[in-house]
Amino acid sequence: MRKSDKLEASEAAAVLEVALARQKAIKSAKFANAEKMFFTRDALEQASGEKITAHRRKRFQTLAESLGSAVAIVDFCCGVGGDSLALCPVGPVTGIDLSEARLVLAKANATALGLSDRFDAVCADVAKFSSANINHSNTINSYQLAFFDPGRRDEQGKRIFKAEAYQPPLSTLKNWLRKDELPNLKGLAVKVSPGIDYDELKQLGLDCEVEIISENGDVKEAVLWFADLRSAGTDKNTTRRATLLYGDKQFNFDDSQGIPKLDCQKPDRYLHEPDGAIIRAGLVECLGADMKAFKIDDEIAFLTSDNLSNSPCARSFEIISSLPFSLKKIKQELQKLKARNLTVKKRGSPIVPDEFIKSLSLKKGDGEDLTVILTRVKNEHTAFITRAI
Ligand SMILES: C[S@@+](CC[C@H](N)C(=O)[O-])C[C@H]1O[C@@H](n2cnc3c(N)ncnc32)[C@H](O)[C@@H]1O
Repeated sequence: MRKSDKLEASEAAAVLEVALARQKAIKSAKFANAEKMFFTRDALEQASGEKITAHRRKRFQTLAESLGSAVAIVDFCCGVGGDSLALCPVGPVTGIDLSEARLVLAKANATALGLSDRFDAVCADVAKFSSANINHSNTINSYQLAFFDPGRRDEQGKRIFKAEAYQPPLSTLKNWLRKDELPNLKGLAVKVSPGIDYDELKQLGLDCEVEIISENGDVKEAVLWFADLRSAGTDKNTTRRATLLYGDKQFNFDDSQGIPKLDCQKPDRYLHEPDGAIIRAGLVECLGADMKAFKIDDEIAFLTSDNLSNSPCARSFEIISSLPFSLKKIKQELQKLKARNLTVKKRGSPIVPDEFIKSLSLKKGDGEDLTVILTRVKNEHTAFITRAI
């Protein structure tokens, strides 16, 4: 090796980081072409998988088609380009990010995927986005669609829950919606944490549809849809939506027709735990009406029914016994049933599942695997001993 071929320690560390992140990306199956792409560990964690970006792209495509002419897209906080590159089939994308390093990876990803003629990268602070501040004033007036994915981790890598503490703060988007800087903007979509606080959105005066997305039962993200992207191919009255992506199938629940009133009923044969996207979107009643199930308590997101509905939108449990919460009685019952493996779920109960399992100090039996569900029914702390269906 020639002297000039040697890597500095910091360069070698960066190469290793990218190589390890690529291995992780291949394993995670987030990207079909991961073996050609470039990530860092953090950037990979923050990027949405292709199933979700493809789902989001449909609204962009619908709106772009209705606009009739070619559209240009701006991706605020584009990172390594996961979202930018997913949007390239809709129109040319300009990705803006503060991090030079991430933009290098974003450009390399565009090249690796054969999209370099559809993607441009600009290093700038999106909070100061204006034709004066970004070196891209030739196209700034032509952006019709925008995507924004603010950072949601602090310097130590901890999750940030308050939307105004995001990097940059969520309210930054108000500048763009006012159209001072983006006079031709027709639609904006924003990726936020699935735990977004609806009250905070209200306090910020943000009028949008909130879509919570889960993939194979895991809640992944929330998307805020503004302006014409809110109604592209959908009902503009929708304020909340749950989208469940399962393999090739998709299930949707929304409040466009209002939320049905669901009666409470004493849990009898089955308990159903709705998919987390439905719970976070506050649409448990919509699922209950579909499943012909009842709530067990006005405040609790479990449903009950006498019939098994086999809905892929909920996990179902057959109730073996139900008892008021008492460690001693639950232990006796589980011993009687010779529980083998025990899973504990809770909703509306202060109990910490791991500590609860420890305090039961059960011997492993040769019976079946059981799930104990700790919850509240009419304000009574209740334990259901169940088998998962
Ligand atoms: C959640 S990541 C974006 C991930 C990206 N959508 C992807 O698919 O790879 C957030 C990004 O925001 C960038 N960022 C944070 N504050 C910024 C600011 N004020 N201006 C521009 N970029 C910023 C960070 O550098 C980071 O890449």
